[in-house]
Amino acid sequence: MTVTLTSVPDIGSDPAASLRRFPFPFRTDTYRYSTNVEPAGKQLETAAGGWGDLIVDIDAHYLPEIAQRAEILRRDPTRQAGAAHMRAAEWDALLYVLGQLARDYPHTMRLERSGRTVSWSNTLQGLSVDFTYGDDSSLPGGPLGFLGTQMQEDVALLDQREGALWLDSGVVTFAADWSMGFDVGMRFLEIHGPVPRVHQEGIIARAQQFMMRLQPGEAYRRTNWTMGLDGRLDTSTETYPEWGQDRTNVIHDPALPDRVHLRVEVQHIIRLPHSGAIMFLIRSYLEPLSALASVPAWRETLAHVLQELPQDMADYKGISKYRMQAAAWLASGQ
Ligand code: HEM
Repeated sequence: MTVTLTSVPDIGSDPAASLRRFPFPFRTDTYRYSTNVEPAGKQLETAAGGWGDLIVDIDAHYLPEIAQRAEILRRDPTRQAGAAHMRAAEWDALLYVLGQLARDYPHTMRLERSGRTVSWSNTLQGLSVDFTYGDDSSLPGGPLGFLGTQMQEDVALLDQREGALWLDSGVVTFAADWSMGFDVGMRFLEIHGPVPRVHQEGIIARAQQFMMRLQPGEAYRRTNWTMGLDGRLDTSTETYPEWGQDRTNVIHDPALPDRVHLRVEVQHIIRLPHSGAIMFLIRSYLEPLSALASVPAWRETLAHVLQELPQDMADYKGISKYRMQAAAWLASGQ
């Protein structure tokens, strides 16, 4: 293994750019669960700009989020898990993602491969590394650990066997109110056990059928959303004592429009080309209500969605305590 660290270019930060690229998830002014999948890599226009042309997306939060992931894993290694039978899938996932990055960010990322020897350079991190495909000891953190250091996305790998999908590997440091350590080893249907409505409506069974039929290399995506507070990405079950109380104390806080964020996950579902595992990438974007409200169409739509959302869905998302205040602020047009 050869790892070289050099100086890093400044990728800056531009709040207006993050709003332009924000994946606003609502196409109508009410929201219900559905098997909302569409082909990956297609640019979608929004009222503020557009998003979606890339599968692995780098933005101005790249370095801070990678650093945050490392710190979370240092404090709580259970956010990363991998069964022995998933090693081939982990290597497959790593090369797939590095290949995407090198293709889409040719000025900063480079991947070269000759047989089992791989050279990777990432100038955003000032990193240059040579490793041997399939040899865990040739790469810092092994394939899965290293993967988590190169992209902002959380990753889950699902094995297909016995007519089902099993969550058997992954690095998830930015879970929205669930726990990787708890869910690892479970079936796809079991993982979705706590979600209201989706089982009666057959959504989860259909989603599983859809994923099990994907061909090698096929890539789809969907969005999911919730609300969060204070720009916090790590709302994993494990850290609930740190953030749970904020859901109550924000209700009467005049800073509510800056504290309450719309949290959107862009989720990619990819059948990896060599191992046949399903890779699930979860990228979390956060914008405060105060910023979203600068786009009139978003202000109106979000106000209506929040106000109309059925109670069981609001309870499940953990937003019941403050969603009406948030909707009222948006609707007031202040
Ligand atoms: C087409 C595919 C999928 C569909 C339609 C789907 C649907 C959903 C829905 C509707 C929710 C509730 C979200 C909310 O209200 O905030 C949910 C939660 C969740 N999904 Fe999926 N999902 C899909 C794929 C996956 C995959 C591949 C994983 C693999 C790890 C996954 C893991 C989860 C987890 C961990 C939760 C939170 C469950 C909890 O509360 O403990 N989903 N999903």
